[in-house]
Amino acid sequence: MEALYGGAMHRRVTILDLAAAKVRGEKWAMLTSYEAMTAEIFDEAGIPVLLVGDSAGNNFLGHENTIPVTVDELIPLTRAVVRASKSALVIADLPFGSYETSPEQALATSTRFFKEAGAMGVKIEGAHIQTIEKLVASGIPVMGHVGLTPQALHQLGGYKVQGRTNADVIFEAALAIEKAGAFALVLELMSAELAARITAALTIPTIGIGAGVQCDAQVLVWTDLMGITKNPPKLAKAYRNLRAEMLAATAEFADDVKAGNFPGPDQIFN
Ligand code: KIV
Repeated sequence: MEALYGGAMHRRVTILDLAAAKVRGEKWAMLTSYEAMTAEIFDEAGIPVLLVGDSAGNNFLGHENTIPVTVDELIPLTRAVVRASKSALVIADLPFGSYETSPEQALATSTRFFKEAGAMGVKIEGAHIQTIEKLVASGIPVMGHVGLTPQALHQLGGYKVQGRTNADVIFEAALAIEKAGAFALVLELMSAELAARITAALTIPTIGIGAGVQCDAQVLVWTDLMGITKNPPKLAKAYRNLRAEMLAATAEFADDVKAGNFPGPDQIFN
């Protein structure tokens, strides 16, 4: 198996590569992406897995949270990410209301993401065990997601650290999701200790977000990583301050236009 990083991957990453990385103890990074421009950049940078998260709701579509996002909204975004990437495994998030009714509903929704957008796997929040079994049996790789599951925001009473009183429930859910056939598991907003316990117990890779450094992989919402999000969550680290950069560039452009300095000699045609 090729290493996930280092420019060695001249084909799409597969779930087998991720399984092999766990065996080797190789850590990796996942990023969200919602359109072609970032997909192309993150792919070129060697990010092995891109998630078209339902976080597109608050980070791309202007909603307050992820709950209003629809399948019809996420399919074109997923298609753009698949088109613009060459090496990354592209996973589509199943939005709230598109999979909970039955395993059959989840299969129908996942089939749309596969046929209409070219997704290579889906992510499902929560321990929907029969649904995961059904999808996996149908040839659809499933990424699980436990801990803070933002689609259950109102049930959980807000974006709170999970597992403080029910660590064993989350631990058992993680085991059941692996047993059902999931290829990876997102661990969101829980103690580093619980995430480490789950990571040690599972043979599939865990992907942490606000879950400590012991996870096999880490994911960030790309607008948090780049410092674009106005009020980023505590779990995020901004590696750049693109919000300030973009504000400055926008103001500079507007001032140049006002002063008659744009277009300049380099942008004028004879
Ligand atoms: O939608 C999303 O961005 C996610 C990640 C935070 C895991 O679910």
